[in-house]
Amino acid sequence: MDLKLHVWRQKNGQDQGKMVSYDAKDISPDMSFLEMLDVLNERLIAKNEDPIAFDHDCREGICGACSLMINGVAHGPDKGTTTCQLHMRRFKNGDSIFIEPWRARAFPVLKDLIVDRGSFDRIQQAGGFVSVGAGGAPDANCLPIPKEKCDQAFDSAACIGCGACVASCKNGSAMLFVSAKISHLALLPQGEPERERRALMMVQQMDQEGFGNCTNQYECEAVCPKEIKVTNIAHMNREFMRASLFHAEK
Ligand code: SF4
Ligand code: FES
Repeated sequence: MDLKLHVWRQKNGQDQGKMVSYDAKDISPDMSFLEMLDVLNERLIAKNEDPIAFDHDCREGICGACSLMINGVAHGPDKGTTTCQLHMRRFKNGDSIFIEPWRARAFPVLKDLIVDRGSFDRIQQAGGFVSVGAGGAPDANCLPIPKEKCDQAFDSAACIGCGACVASCKNGSAMLFVSAKISHLALLPQGEPERERRALMMVQQMDQEGFGNCTNQYECEAVCPKEIKVTNIAHMNREFMRASLFHAEK
């Protein structure tokens, strides 16, 4: 198929950036979206032009590295699908496709389609972990967890930290991401010792990074490739309230 691509090109964080149009001819419908960009880049390199910079790693929908706004939708038109798992058969011969980076104050553009998502790492470092005492590993059967809680924790843990939720939110809110991380650990006994500290520190770091607040638009849930539910945000708010009261009493 032959496509017209309109791609955001930006040399660096200081550059103003602009949309540049490319003809992408003879694209196989079996290619993934990123393979299509690989082909375009090979052609640009052959012409001594700067290839388009874009993030990717696993290309299996599990690492969270890929991050493209495709025709204005984070990760493109397929529900519950990362950019790397999107295939060109989803488009038609002659289509125009607009490709842009995530746009949010807390995700500054580094080059072309790559943004700096270090803010997510710093939120995770602020509290998204459990401390494990040295010594022999406890027997798994010593930590019985109800099946329902296991399932809820697993669903929250499915977040791959891609940032599509932020990019699709008009407020640039990171609440779906942060709430998934807080809920995951708050639901498990392993997360209990640091439960209050975690909720306070991660929310504080989220605010410091310049993310906006949630105003219940649900755009985040609509584009999340792992279908993380906004009920996690309600859970995070309860965890934060509980932690604030806990600390106020001390
Ligand atoms: S909540 Fe969904 S959209 Fe947001 S970072 Fe996690 S996987 Fe990506
Ligand atoms: S490249 Fe890893 S999720 Fe897309």
